[in-house]
Amino acid sequence: MKIKIVFYSMYGHIYRMAEAVAEGARQVEGAEVELLQVPELIPDVVLEKSGAKKAREAFAHIPVAKTSDLADADAVIFGTPTRFGNMCAQMRNFLDQTGGLWAKNALVGKVGSVFISSGTQHGGQETTLISFHITLLHHGMIIVGLPYSEARQNTVDEITGGSPYGATTIAALDGSRMPSENELAIARFQGKHVAGIAKKLAGK
Ligand SMILES: Cc1cc2nc3c(=O)[nH]c(=O)nc-3n(C[C@H](O)[C@H](O)[C@H](O)COP(=O)(O)O)c2cc1C
Repeated sequence: MKIKIVFYSMYGHIYRMAEAVAEGARQVEGAEVELLQVPELIPDVVLEKSGAKKAREAFAHIPVAKTSDLADADAVIFGTPTRFGNMCAQMRNFLDQTGGLWAKNALVGKVGSVFISSGTQHGGQETTLISFHITLLHHGMIIVGLPYSEARQNTVDEITGGSPYGATTIAALDGSRMPSENELAIARFQGKHVAGIAKKLAGK
């Protein structure tokens, strides 16, 4: 049973979350978990100026996704930073190249799930998750969110991401906040939850 975690990350917040999602998915027996990053669109010189080039060295070893990678997955868990309340252009561009898969119904019945990162607490976490789901529904994917049985999303004792639509983290406007322990635990739960459902669907 193949679980693919397909993400974009500029400064590493989503990458950190993706690793936690992968850890959770690996807890399900029989899960083959693969991390992939979607292709970059921003010129190197711009990445250099923003400090992203340095930050991205931490996950330079993660292979670049091809749309065909989605076709043999049992579940795909997508991770994106928020851009103006939506997914980032790199992820949009990747998904916009999946028309061929759509035409063949190649993703119909596969499990799809999303986690995200935003700069601020109310800067579009839920809109990014839910608007991402629309594309997955067009592909006929079975959307899996994050049930309230993962009670760590309910905490108000500390600032935390997490929502019934998917795991989230809050990076702070200057990117200084990395995912908290609570957010990473929620991300692990999502990975395990998705892999468990994919396993049941696969009848394995
Ligand atoms: C062009 C642009 C638009 C952004 N839009 C938002 C936004 O609407 N809301 C928000 O909270 N953060 C916004 N951010 C902050 C990013 O979401 C944040 O840098 C990202 O979640 C960090 O994750 P990463 O290190 O994995 O890229 C924006 C950042 C950029 C560069």
